Amino acid sequence: MKRIKRNWNIPKGQPLTDFDKRILEFQNRGELVPTRQLIKTPEQIEGIRRSGVVNTGVLDLIEKEIHAGMSTAEIDKLVYDYTVAHGAIPAPLNYEGFPKSVCTSINEVVCHGIPSEYDILEEGDIINVDVSTILDGYYSDASRMFIIGQTSPEKEKLVRVTRECLEIGKEAARPWGFVGEIGKAIERHARKNGFSVVRDLCGHGVGLEFHEEPEVNHYNTHHHGMLLVPGMVFTIEPMINMGTWEVFIDEEDGWTVVTEDELPSAQWEHTFVMTDTGLEILTH
Ligand code: MF3
Ligand code: CO
Repeated sequence: MKRIKRNWNIPKGQPLTDFDKRILEFQNRGELVPTRQLIKTPEQIEGIRRSGVVNTGVLDLIEKEIHAGMSTAEIDKLVYDYTVAHGAIPAPLNYEGFPKSVCTSINEVVCHGIPSEYDILEEGDIINVDVSTILDGYYSDASRMFIIGQTSPEKEKLVRVTRECLEIGKEAARPWGFVGEIGKAIERHARKNGFSVVRDLCGHGVGLEFHEEPEVNHYNTHHHGMLLVPGMVFTIEPMINMGTWEVFIDEEDGWTVVTEDELPSAQWEHTFVMTDTGLEILTH
């Protein structure tokens, strides 16, 4: 028997609003609906947006400063200094034991690369810089790819197609639709271009915590996933591989995620809020 997870509860004695009724209709059909906590208030959305402004400032700074010969530890220092100077906190720092302020993932590193003075950027590298910020308790999360100098046409295509995957995922997400549409659209575009989608890591709700519900898969799970309701805030952050989708975690540091075949991987990420007309970017 299929068990319904009843996330939407009505406080005792409170009359049902049209909003409640609309969500209950889905819940009674057996769909996964958000909890009340996941529907952000306008004040909370403004807080996340302000956090996103700092987060974007960090990425713009890195975009300006990144160059061949630079170490990823230097990127980490730029992130830390800028964030703190703007009254914010880098969310990765000490998060579940993560030792640095940003994730720097070069070539075959999929994500969660740890900045190091020994990792020097070289001409032709592609690198993901994943920045997450806490401002006044509000979390934002976004990442970009940077190409160091000139790279191969294949790696250039991977970076471009991954960016397109993020855009296509954004467009696939509709208010009162389902999170599963996002991964379905992303996987279709990745495969059409000969690439694969990482399955072991996903996008996520964000805002009051670093990682909240829902899970945002970037591949076709063949499930609806959670109902998308205006006011929900979450990331889309497809990791797209040139070869196999399979990945492993570096045993030595317990963080760095690497492609199984050691072929390159790319990722782009934004934080979005669902509105009555579709997704709006909070990390422009
Ligand atoms: N920024 C990553 C994300 O997109 C999470 C990194 S967790 C860390 O969800 F600890 F590695 F920073
Ligand atoms: Co994220």
